[in-house]
Amino acid sequence: MKIEDIKNICVVGAGNMGHQIALQAALSGFQVKSTDASEVTLQKAQQFVDSYLPQRVAKGKLTEEQAALARKNISFVKTLEEAAQDADFVIEAVTEKLALKRDIFSKLDTICPPDTILATNSSFIVSSMIADVTTRPSQVCNMHFFNPALVMKLVEVVQGPHTAPETAEVTVELCRRMGKLPVLLNKEIYGFLVNRILGALSTEAVFLLDQGIASAEAIDLAVVNALGHPMGPFRLMDLTGIDLSYHIGMERYRETQDAADKPSPVIVEKYAKGEWGQKTGKGFYQY
Ligand code: 3HC
Repeated sequence: MKIEDIKNICVVGAGNMGHQIALQAALSGFQVKSTDASEVTLQKAQQFVDSYLPQRVAKGKLTEEQAALARKNISFVKTLEEAAQDADFVIEAVTEKLALKRDIFSKLDTICPPDTILATNSSFIVSSMIADVTTRPSQVCNMHFFNPALVMKLVEVVQGPHTAPETAEVTVELCRRMGKLPVLLNKEIYGFLVNRILGALSTEAVFLLDQGIASAEAIDLAVVNALGHPMGPFRLMDLTGIDLSYHIGMERYRETQDAADKPSPVIVEKYAKGEWGQKTGKGFYQY
């Protein structure tokens, strides 16, 4: 697969990350099919696109023509078969559950043409934990976007031991053609670059909160005003989803059996209460 051959992109999962990755690809001129196992999530993704594009026009960020073209470039389809059968490149952006990702990759391997590249947007899971379910491990890699994907420039591309250099090169170039700034990791490591650094910060912030040292608001205020971050760790967890923090911790714990990897009590409590952040209207903050 060469970069010039990539015309059709399939994005599997239309949740927090998937709907914006799909729209970014459509805005960049690719033919995009967005799919999700949940019809409600797929409908919400479509509603987002239908309201976002006119807002961008009203704000002077897009012309009417650009918005209309992007809308034409993206379709929302209910089945994985329909979404992936003519894809040149697939970006999987489903929940952070290894078993689910493996199941999807094994299906994609049978549905997609033989030269299709299969990338995972996983936040932490390296693609070698998934690639072995396919007959094309050399065409599998990580392509990790950041939230909100329409805004954040960086994308981490991770070349696993199974990933062919051409696959990594094409993926890096695709990031550029999607208006993003790619960084290539030559070796796999759990959590890649950004989430390892962010994880260290968030773990410390949650520890300080759990110890009753300061409130979430005070810790956020400190990080924004002393470190110059655009938002503090708690507001950021509300944006990325406390359910995501919970699942990532649980998956890691399942793998390592190290109690230190378990999500902290405050994350477990918020997850159980359904206080998952912006998406549920309440997290560390009220929305
Ligand atoms: N979706 C799409 N666009 C959004 C958005 C959203 N949820 N939120 C804000 N924007 C856009 C606005 O439309 C605006 O665009 P414009 O300037 O082109 O008109 C621009 O972002 C700035 O928005 P605002 O002025 O409303 O707000 P801020 O200036 O406060 O910016 C922010 C919002 C971009 C979210 C900024 O606070 C920020 O950069 N926060 C940090 C985000 C971050 O750290 N992301 C990484 C998270 S870690 C991660 O994703 C890892 C993964 O594995 C989970």
